Amino acid sequence: MPKTSQRTAAFSESVIRGMTRLANECGAINLSQGFPDFHPPEPVLQALERVSRQGPHQYAVTWGAPNFRAALARKQSRFMQLPIDADENIVVTCGSTEAMMVSMMTACNPGDKVIVFSPFYENYAADAILCGAVPIHVELRPPDFCFDPDELRRAFQRGAKALVLCNPSNPSGKVFTPEELLVVAKLAEEFDAFVLTDEVYEHIVYQPHRHTYFASLPGMFERTLSCSSLSKTYSMTGWRLGYVIAAPSVINEARKVHDFLTVGAAAPLQEAAITALELPDSYYQELQWFYSEKRAMFLDYLKAAGLRYTEPQGAYYVMVDISEFGWNDDTAFCEWMAREVGVAAVPGSSFFHEPVNHLIRLHFAKTPETLALAGERLLNLREKIRAAQRRGNS
Ligand SMILES: Cc1ncc(COP(=O)(O)O)c(C=O)c1O
Repeated sequence: MPKTSQRTAAFSESVIRGMTRLANECGAINLSQGFPDFHPPEPVLQALERVSRQGPHQYAVTWGAPNFRAALARKQSRFMQLPIDADENIVVTCGSTEAMMVSMMTACNPGDKVIVFSPFYENYAADAILCGAVPIHVELRPPDFCFDPDELRRAFQRGAKALVLCNPSNPSGKVFTPEELLVVAKLAEEFDAFVLTDEVYEHIVYQPHRHTYFASLPGMFERTLSCSSLSKTYSMTGWRLGYVIAAPSVINEARKVHDFLTVGAAAPLQEAAITALELPDSYYQELQWFYSEKRAMFLDYLKAAGLRYTEPQGAYYVMVDISEFGWNDDTAFCEWMAREVGVAAVPGSSFFHEPVNHLIRLHFAKTPETLALAGERLLNLREKIRAAQRRGNS
C-alpha cells in the first residue's frame, strides 16, 4: 500500500467540524461550528426558486459570472470606499475558505514565511502547510487580544512574505482599530510584504466598534488580497460563495490558482445571490441590530451563569474562561460539556499556537429559541460540574 503525502500528515482533522459531529451524535445544541440555524433573506430564497427553473445550470466564467462580479463590485466599492472594478479586481471563489487558500498560494512560494496572529481561525495553519509556507505566530494576548508592535516587527524581520489578518477576528471577536492597522500597514510597507485579509465578519460589528478595510488604508490596496464571502453576511454558509479582491496584476495570478483548484463557484447560486448583493444599506444596519440583540441575550445568560468571558467587538463568538473549574484539558471539558450539559463548544487550544487551554469558544448565530435553550442549559453548568466532581471524589 503506498503512503499518502507527508503534507496531509502535518495537520489533523478540523477540531471545529469534529465538535459538530459530536454535537450531532449526542444531541447537544451546537454552538461550536459558526453557522446560523435560520435562513438567508426571503428575497434571496425567491431568487433561488426562480433560478432553479431558469438557470444557469452550467459552468459560469471561471473567475465569476459577470453579473455577479458587477453586483459585488458595486457593493464592495460602496463599503470599502474604493473603486473596485468587476473585470480587473475580483476572483469569485468557493467561500472565503478557498479565497484564503488562493491568496496564500498566489502570494507565497514554498518555504516563504507567513505571519499569523494567534489565536487564529484554524484553516490558516492548514492553508500554510498545504502551500508549503511556514507560519510565524504573533500573539494576540487575552483578554483584550492586542498585539505587541515590537513582537510584530521581529516577525517581519524574520523575512515574512505575507501576513494573515482576520478582522473582525474569529475566535477572539477582536475588531482591529485603525491605529493598530496602521502599525501593520507601516511594517508591511517597510518589509515589502503582502497582507491577506479574511473579512467574512465585515458586517457583524458591535457599537462603538467599526470595521476598517485594510485595503482602504493609504497605499495598501496594491499589497492586499482582501478575502471575504457571502456566508456570514447573508446567512448562507452552505452556498460557498466568496471572493478575492486585489490589484489587477495579483488577480491575474489568483485567477489561475482558482481555475485549477475548483474551475468555479456554483453558477446558479451566483445568479441567485445577486439579489443579496443588491440589498439596500438598511439591510446591513438591521444585521448589526440583529446580531447585537443576539449578543446581548447570550452574554446575559453567561453572566447569569457566573461565567467569565471576553465581550466580542465583532463576529459572533465569545471566549469563555474555564480556568476556575480546574480542568486542565479544554478538549475533554468540551466533550464532557456536550454530553452532560448538552451544549457543544470548541476547545480554545485549537486556535492558539501557545499552550492555552483555559478558554472555550461558543457562538451565538442562533434563533432566540435556540439561544434560550442553550442559555438555560449553561445556567446548570456549575451544578453539573460540582456533581461530576462529587462523583469523582466518592
Ligand atoms: C474567520 C473565518 N473565515 C472563513 C470562514 C469560512 O468562510 P466561508 O464559508 O466563506 O468559506 C469562517 C467560518 O467560520 C471564519 O470564521
